[in-house]
Amino acid sequence: MRLPYNCAVTILALETSCDETAVAILRGTDLLASEIASQTQHEAYGGVVPEVASRSHLLHAPRLLEHALEIAGLALDEIDAFAATSGPGLASSLMIGASIAKGLAVGMGKPYLAVNHLEGHLLSPFFGSDEIERNVSLIVSGGHTLLVEVRGVNEYRVLGRTVDDAAGEAFDKVAKLLGLGYPGGPEIEKRAVDGNAARFDFPRSMLDSGDHNFSFSGLKTAVRYRLAGFETNHRDAGLVADFCASFQQAVIDVLVKKTLRAARSCRAKLVTMSGGVSCNQALRDAMSQACRRAELRLLTAAPGLCTDNAAMIALAAALRFRAGFRSEVTQEIDPNLALA
Ligand code: KG4
Ligand code: ZN
Repeated sequence: MRLPYNCAVTILALETSCDETAVAILRGTDLLASEIASQTQHEAYGGVVPEVASRSHLLHAPRLLEHALEIAGLALDEIDAFAATSGPGLASSLMIGASIAKGLAVGMGKPYLAVNHLEGHLLSPFFGSDEIERNVSLIVSGGHTLLVEVRGVNEYRVLGRTVDDAAGEAFDKVAKLLGLGYPGGPEIEKRAVDGNAARFDFPRSMLDSGDHNFSFSGLKTAVRYRLAGFETNHRDAGLVADFCASFQQAVIDVLVKKTLRAARSCRAKLVTMSGGVSCNQALRDAMSQACRRAELRLLTAAPGLCTDNAAMIALAAALRFRAGFRSEVTQEIDPNLALA
């Protein structure tokens, strides 16, 4: 399917599904603005507190909106459609972004587009390319681990998903076990560089299961038990690096092998990868090598578009707009919104 770059529609999108407040403006292929405010106050509570998150969205969103329009050099009446993430995510957070986008759409007399957060991740590797090709896609984030067959906009078939923890969640939980900061992914990746990935033989769960599903909670438990064998005062930087490298390698082995198997089963020629965990350079390298060996092409989201952002929501909205989709402003947010 051709992308709408000849008819340069201008979309303003909001993403408030969890603890990031983000606003982006996309005109055709040009990302004119992409503003993000991250909430750090949740660290003190050991997790995202929904009410704190939604209050913070309310505080940040107007400022980000104003700033995005200023950077883009546009006035509100130059926006063709307003979009927002409508799920999955935290209800009280989703409501803020969706209400703002709906209000702007009604006030400016322009269309509103409700976008699935996962569709945003799914299409983000296509930023800047002029065609969406059939592909098998791995979405790896803090909340989701999904393998999806993509045939076109809104034509998605979920092939497999995690049956327990998401890959990013495993990174975050293992980082916590090792006494590292949040989010755990970048902390583990940094230390894994100096570690020995062969020191601990952690399980590769469901690697040979007949389906395309994943499981990461056993891996986290295996790290916990192995770590318990070391006295706290013996946990030096070298040991932590070996834990990080061995854990990271176990996750990568499963993600890469299962993605390639799914691509083969769908006879896909293209593999795509998105979501926060796909920032991980070791994963990107391993996926890229495996695809090359299997004569598959690989398209990954740009590192800046892997973690949550509104640019991916704007892109998905632009593609949906072009395909003729519009949403009613009466459409509710859905914390459990499914992709397909
Ligand atoms: O896509 P995202 O921003 O939010 C969700 O939709 O969940 O993903 C956040 C997740 C976190 O679990 C974080 O630890 C993980 O992505 N992550 C990484 C890396 N950067 C972020 N995991 C592994 N390696 C990284 N470099
Ligand atoms: Zn996400």
